[in-house]
Parts: sequence; structure tokens; C-alpha cells
Amino acid sequence: MIKKCLFPAAGYGTRFLPATKAMPKEMLPVLTKPLIQYGVEEAMEAGCDVMAIITGRGKRAITDHFDISYELEHQIQGSSKEEMLSEIRNILDKCTFTYTRQNEMKGLGDAIYKGNVLVGFANPFAVILADDLCYNSDGPGVLKQMVDLYSKYKCCIVATMEVPHDEVHKYGVIEGREIEDGVFMVDNMVEKPKTEDAPSNLAVIGRYILTPDIFDVIKETKPGKNGELQITDALCEQAKKGMVIAYKFKGKRFDCGSVDGFVEATNFFYQLERQ
Ligand code: G1P
Repeated sequence: MIKKCLFPAAGYGTRFLPATKAMPKEMLPVLTKPLIQYGVEEAMEAGCDVMAIITGRGKRAITDHFDISYELEHQIQGSSKEEMLSEIRNILDKCTFTYTRQNEMKGLGDAIYKGNVLVGFANPFAVILADDLCYNSDGPGVLKQMVDLYSKYKCCIVATMEVPHDEVHKYGVIEGREIEDGVFMVDNMVEKPKTEDAPSNLAVIGRYILTPDIFDVIKETKPGKNGELQITDALCEQAKKGMVIAYKFKGKRFDCGSVDGFVEATNFFYQLERQ
């Protein structure tokens, strides 16, 4: 039922300047694969075959990446290098890519709202923030775990993990009651609170399942933290009038929006490849 995955990818990636001056941060490679491709593969594993990307100015490399490159492919045809494009070819065979632009940086809530033209209003959809790179060595990926949970709860779901108390200011933070192992009924959500104001240390990471009624809620949501339209605020409203689930996922998450997390991910995947 969840066939479409939204990728908000309009942000500037200022933490990686100058690398991201002309190149989208989503195209930064961990080993030989751009971040967004890891996200697309996770979405495919979860059963999605439409990848809906919210781009912005200077993001054309993403569109080109998910397309055929005739000249290059002709050039390496028959050589050992051909194999290096097999994963991306598989993606292109199985998925459709759709795009729209967020013209102004008005926040993640606004970016997701812009996605309504791509994902429609009929079905639930997934959201992946590509700079949160997730990996689970012992079973299904994070989005697949959430899609499975959706079939039970049929409501919006956010992925969460415990973070040190002095890091809660970087995240949306939830307050909730545990209703089964690792599954919380959300009562409250706060975007990037100070440590002393945080309701818990359960932080939202960049994986969401959203039901299309969220678009109406976003429309009514006022700009919040940093003057931006926050998906956290819309989901908080949704939790109050209906139901939102927070799920403590199984696996690892690398914050590839930061240099430290990016290096950690690179080392991790390098070791994994050498095994
Ligand atoms: C966004 C969300 C935040 C979430 C985070 C996860 O923030 O607004 O709620 O915890 O992603 O990575 P950003 O990191 O884009 O500032």
C-alpha cells in the first residue's frame, strides 16, 4: 500500500561547504554511492517504487543521477567497470522518479507539503531524509520495519532513537507512552528543544510514514522553530487530535549531515565492504 517515498532534498547543506557549493549534499558519496541512493535502496526494500524528490535550485545532479547516461554507459560497455553501474540500473528498471521544486527554504513541513502534487491524497506515503543514513545488519531496513508497523497501526509513524540529553537540541523530540516493545503512542513533540525543556531523549530521525490527512494539518500549522514550518509541529497536532506512533527502530543511523557522522559512516561501510 505504501508505494511512494518522498525525499525532501532542497536544503543547502551548509555544514559541508565548500563541497556543497555547487553539488547537492544528497550526492555526497559514502564510498562510491551517493547518500540519496542509499535512501532510494532502503525505500525499494520497503516496497516503494515511486521516488518523489523535492529538489531546489542547484540540485540537477540528483535528476541526472537517476537517469541513463548514454555516453558513459557506451564508453564502459563490455569492461569490468560496467558492473559498477548495476545497482543504479536496477533502480532505474524498477522505479519511477518524480520531481518538484521547493522554491523557498521554508522548512521541512513546507517541503513535505510541496510533495502533495507527487504523492497525492489517496494513500499513505514514506519520507526519507537522505542525510540520515540507516543500516540494519540483522534484518530489514528501518523503512521496511516501519511499513510493517503501519499495517498494524494505520497512522503516522516517526522513527526514533535515544540520544544523549545534551544533543536533544538537534532533533524533534517526542513524549509518549510505550504500548509495546519499542512502540510509543505520542502525546507531545517538540522541535529542537533545549535540554531542560525536552520531554525525553527520544529523538526523531529522518524516516516517517505519513497519512495524507497530514497535508491539511500542515496547511493549518504556523511557522515554528527558526521561523520555519516544522513537520514536528504538524505531527504534534496530529497526535493530539488522532494518533501518531514513535518507533524505536532496529539498526544504526549515521548523521551524514555532519562531518563527524559522515566520516563514521564512511569508515563503517568501508569495513563492511572489506569483510
Ligand atoms: C529534521 C527535523 C527534526 C529531526 C531531524 C532528523 O531536522 O526537523 O525533527 O529530528 O531532521 O535528522 P534537520 O536535521 O533537518 O534540521
